[in-house]
Amino acid sequence: MILQTLIAPGEKLLLDRNCHKSVHHGVVLSGAHPVYLDSSVNRKYGVFGPVPKKTIFQAIEDHPDAEALVLTSCTYDGLRYDLKPIIEAAHARGTKVLIDEAWYGHARFHPEFRPTALESGADYATQSTHKVLSALSQASMIHVNDPDFKEHIFRQNFNMHTSTSPQYAMIASMDVARQQAVMEGYKLLSRTLELATELRGQINSTGVFRVLELDDLLPDEVKGDNVRLDPTKVTVDISRCGFTVEELQKELFERFNIQVEKSTFNTLTLLLTIGTTRSKVSRLYDALMRIAREGRAPRRLYPMPDVPRFTQLRYLPRDAFYCGGELLPLLDERDSVNKALLDRVSADQIVPYPPGIPVLVPGQVITEEVIQYVVGLLRSQKRMEVHGIVYDGYLPCVRVLTGDEEQALRRVGLTCTDIREEVAQATRRTAVVS
Ligand SMILES: Cc1ncc(COP(=O)(O)O)c(C=O)c1O
Repeated sequence: MILQTLIAPGEKLLLDRNCHKSVHHGVVLSGAHPVYLDSSVNRKYGVFGPVPKKTIFQAIEDHPDAEALVLTSCTYDGLRYDLKPIIEAAHARGTKVLIDEAWYGHARFHPEFRPTALESGADYATQSTHKVLSALSQASMIHVNDPDFKEHIFRQNFNMHTSTSPQYAMIASMDVARQQAVMEGYKLLSRTLELATELRGQINSTGVFRVLELDDLLPDEVKGDNVRLDPTKVTVDISRCGFTVEELQKELFERFNIQVEKSTFNTLTLLLTIGTTRSKVSRLYDALMRIAREGRAPRRLYPMPDVPRFTQLRYLPRDAFYCGGELLPLLDERDSVNKALLDRVSADQIVPYPPGIPVLVPGQVITEEVIQYVVGLLRSQKRMEVHGIVYDGYLPCVRVLTGDEEQALRRVGLTCTDIREEVAQATRRTAVVS
């Protein structure tokens, strides 16, 4: 809704490539011309961090025509940007700032978590109220702070995405969540913070599991960026426990009825919210202590391969997505990379989970490195989910633009001279045919 309000087709948007897929969907819906920023990576733990400040400042400088900038703060693992200087730099160039606070809806209600995105000057913040406050699933909020807010256009876009038969139970639950946060938020969050401190100590006392602190989590590229950690997100190094991460998650679920929020190849991230009680924390500690006491020998854990660097955007994601395209298999008859895919353009977003970063977005050029990465994931024993892959029987395929569709589309980033040259070429072709 926000992206459709702020951006007309073809206008530029700066965004973390690691943004949630809803932002990438917004790119398709709005027709934005995306400029992707690479987030930092902590390879030791497979954790993706914020985009380095230097990269953001450079992008703002290089793209003064960008209409908006989208970042996620805090990240899934609780890493928060030092937002104020970033937002000031964007505003100085007339770029609006949208912060995805899906995991940070509680922040306004305790000084430990502030300043929030809006308090740092962001124009828009989106929050999944259901994730960390007490609203029903799907209940989320858009907070608006844009001095140039165009309410009429926003409302048109809002109506385009909502039902004409509102779900009053959900809306009421948001109001209850809001009221609870205002009236009891500080007290509940103080308790959550206390429990988080206790839990961190308890996990470390197992001697096998170790909680990662800000310094462990921060990728080197952002060590000087004044990034902070939301302590209610507890990331634990599991590499000494004798299980693979999948086995440990299964053990916690089946033996102890504990559902883990997120994992990497050697960590688990646990979330504490205002709903966390001491008995829940004790159950988790008890489970980890029992596993630690069983004294298994550490297993060899294998990191995920690096996500290939972004290749090249040949067409706007929206233009590519709305092409019918054709399905091409990833592998040929000899099970090698299908050469017919090279230099073709993807019509879909291809996203492996985890880490949830698109290796291909609609409009992006396909290279051998990208195919090899996807094939590697599909063949790995972990049975990775790769969203966007289409199966033709057993054959994994990608939807790509046909030659005719490519001919009919305008390439991204063409200068006026390029366009004049294209027109001249087309005229020459017509002349030859006639
Ligand atoms: C960073 C981020 N943004 C947005 C969303 C989407 O939120 P919702 O599930 O409330 O639509 C999620 C969901 O997991 C998320 O992790």
